[in-house]
Amino acid sequence: MITMTLGEIAEVTGGQVVGAEPGAQVTGPVEFDSRKITAGGLFVAFAGEKVDGHEFAPAVMAAGAAGVLGTRDAGVPGVVVADQLDALARLARVVVDRLDALTVVGLTGSSGKTTTKDFIGQLLARLGPTVAPPGSLNNELGHPYTVLKAGPDTRFLVLEMGARGVGHIRHLAQVAPPRIGVVLNIGAAHLGEFGSVEGTALAKGELVEALPADGVAVLNADDPLVAAMASRTRARVVRFGEAEQADVRAVDVTLDARGRAAYTLVAGGESALVRLAVTGRHQVGNTLAAAAVALAAGLPVAQVADALGEVGIASVRRMDVFDRPDGVTVIDDSYNANPSSTEAALRSLAALGAGRRTVAVLGYMAELGEYERSGHEQVGRLAAELGVDRLIAVAEAAPILAGAATVASWTGQGLHAADQAAAIAELDLRPGDVVLVKGSRYRTWEVADSLRPEGVRR
Ligand SMILES: Nc1ncnc2c1ncn2[C@@H]1O[C@H](COP(=O)(O)OP(=O)(O)OP(=O)(O)O)[C@@H](O)[C@H]1O
Ligand SMILES: [Mg+2]
Repeated sequence: MITMTLGEIAEVTGGQVVGAEPGAQVTGPVEFDSRKITAGGLFVAFAGEKVDGHEFAPAVMAAGAAGVLGTRDAGVPGVVVADQLDALARLARVVVDRLDALTVVGLTGSSGKTTTKDFIGQLLARLGPTVAPPGSLNNELGHPYTVLKAGPDTRFLVLEMGARGVGHIRHLAQVAPPRIGVVLNIGAAHLGEFGSVEGTALAKGELVEALPADGVAVLNADDPLVAAMASRTRARVVRFGEAEQADVRAVDVTLDARGRAAYTLVAGGESALVRLAVTGRHQVGNTLAAAAVALAAGLPVAQVADALGEVGIASVRRMDVFDRPDGVTVIDDSYNANPSSTEAALRSLAALGAGRRTVAVLGYMAELGEYERSGHEQVGRLAAELGVDRLIAVAEAAPILAGAATVASWTGQGLHAADQAAAIAELDLRPGDVVLVKGSRYRTWEVADSLRPEGVRR
């Protein structure tokens, strides 16, 4: 955050200073979780259904807050606004406009935004101070909140941008205008919102429409709906992928026994070997996207390749692979799921599980709309085609088993678990097994946590 007075904050947000002189300064971070408030910070009070944030005003002041921004006078120094989200958006825009040395990177896509944001953050950190906090801060709260983490020293701000509908990304791009914009992929995510993959492409392409003429649009050459967005931008287009026409390209991709990819990175007539430490064939595309951003920001190819060998996923429950003392290997990819990301995860399970018994615990995939049944069946079919030995569908994910049953050659076992506790009871793991846990949001988190060695829950 940059230092601002309550008076300036009121002016920017169209609010009123209460309980303080307008010259009182905010010198610390903006937080909406009262437990995170530190000295000089600004607490944003939301009135939720169960808890009214304004009631935490005395507590945050005791913790050193400079004031509270809310929709009513909380009896402490602060700013009263009509709408907190609108106020955050306006504040974020002012911060971006005041930081001349800042390059804003925005990224969107159906799967892998958080993962790739983590990678981009780690690459750009080699060039200068970078803000790219862990987690999935991609909506009209998380996005401006991330922007407000930028300060006078920040050179790069990496923003995940989610779209729940047409116009959302356009709005986020106005809050923090990106100079580099990345579109990762268009898959079967949030189809319930958009109706079709074409509808999703329309919304996600708003990112490249927002780029300036001296900006860079980083587009997936391997995804036709993304590659076609080149016609929707004034910015210079950089294509990443394995396709021949990609400007930042991976060739000679191999996978090791742990499902980790290695490839030759080819860009601008140079090449360098990349050996990834993260799991999954799909990380080739994600890391190429990150490479394209870093190259556009000025990191040389050799350094990009070197840094890619070290990148990890800072955000939890995404392709988190670990070995337990009993010889079971766990792939905790339980953060979220859609058919595309479940396909990537099942392929990783198959790669890691070569010569071993494989177990997949799959939960319900939300937000599929009219594709709900077919999406689950498709995933089940793939699991069977890949020869998963034990397939456990949790609760509403039962159609996965119907899909698996259509594969006549499948010799594995399919089981339905009524809830997560039942799935845990059905696991029946043996030394040497590889187990994948995946579902939408919380729907398989208990299963994943039950597999962690004691005390390592997160
Ligand atoms: N390129 C990819 N293709 C398919 N699946 C992927 C890809 N990259 C990551 N995933 C998987 O997608 C899931 C979600 O990953 P991540 O959280 O990075 O995506 P996201 O786009 O930020 O999701 P959300 O919409 O929930 O914010 C994880 O299971 C991850 O392993
Ligand atoms: Mg995310």
